[in-house]
Amino acid sequence: MSRTPFVAGNWKMNTTKASAIDLAKSLAAGGSPRDVEVGIAPPFVYLDAVGAAIKGSSILLGAQDVYFEKNGAFTGEISIEMLKDLGVRFVLTGHSERRHVLHEPSQLVAKKAAAVYGAGLILVHCVGEKIEERDANKTFAVVQSQLEELPKDLGDPSRLVIAYEPVWAIGTGRNATDAQAQEVHAFIRQQLAKTYNKTFADAVRIQYGGSMKPENARGLMQQPDVDGGLIGGASLKADSFLAIVNAARN
Ligand code: PGA
Repeated sequence: MSRTPFVAGNWKMNTTKASAIDLAKSLAAGGSPRDVEVGIAPPFVYLDAVGAAIKGSSILLGAQDVYFEKNGAFTGEISIEMLKDLGVRFVLTGHSERRHVLHEPSQLVAKKAAAVYGAGLILVHCVGEKIEERDANKTFAVVQSQLEELPKDLGDPSRLVIAYEPVWAIGTGRNATDAQAQEVHAFIRQQLAKTYNKTFADAVRIQYGGSMKPENARGLMQQPDVDGGLIGGASLKADSFLAIVNAARN
């Protein structure tokens, strides 16, 4: 089964308007190879400007979060329609910082995931265990429960991406080993096959995230079930992000 790798940059709460536009322009100028899908998720307030900066390139615009309601009295929140209006094509749900820093409960993550997929966008659903869960051999159980947040009636595998991001690897400089990543990615694919079906599971891209950088990207992405990456820190510099995109090529 050949899957087109998807490499996405999660800029988190970084950049200024000017530096966001600069970075976006450098990435667009860097050119994305045909055999890798590339995306960037800037802060909400720069989506419009970054969207304009990558216009005409094949880079997909993404959002780091969303609210599930259509509109109304939800002070501070951003709807899917607003994101679509700005050309957003993919949205992250369940990122570990939303789960563990902003204390977003699983039920809310599930509602967001259903809304994103239901709206026809690409859903990038993040899963991953904390170090104490790994040490207690609970990695598979945690990941399984986070996969259960997904709607049960998903039909289009091209619009589902799972990002496996062990919490202990995010922003720490300590990435999962190739074998640790592959083990969990294979488990995720197995679970998707059980819940949906094997054809669907075989077509879903599973990204690795957590201290991915040019030096470790190729080894991780050469694993049979690793189909790209979700990149934080290393996505803030055009050369390191483009080097990772390049490492995703077969
Ligand atoms: P990192 O972040 O690459 O800085 O570890 C990854 C992520 O949180 O998506």
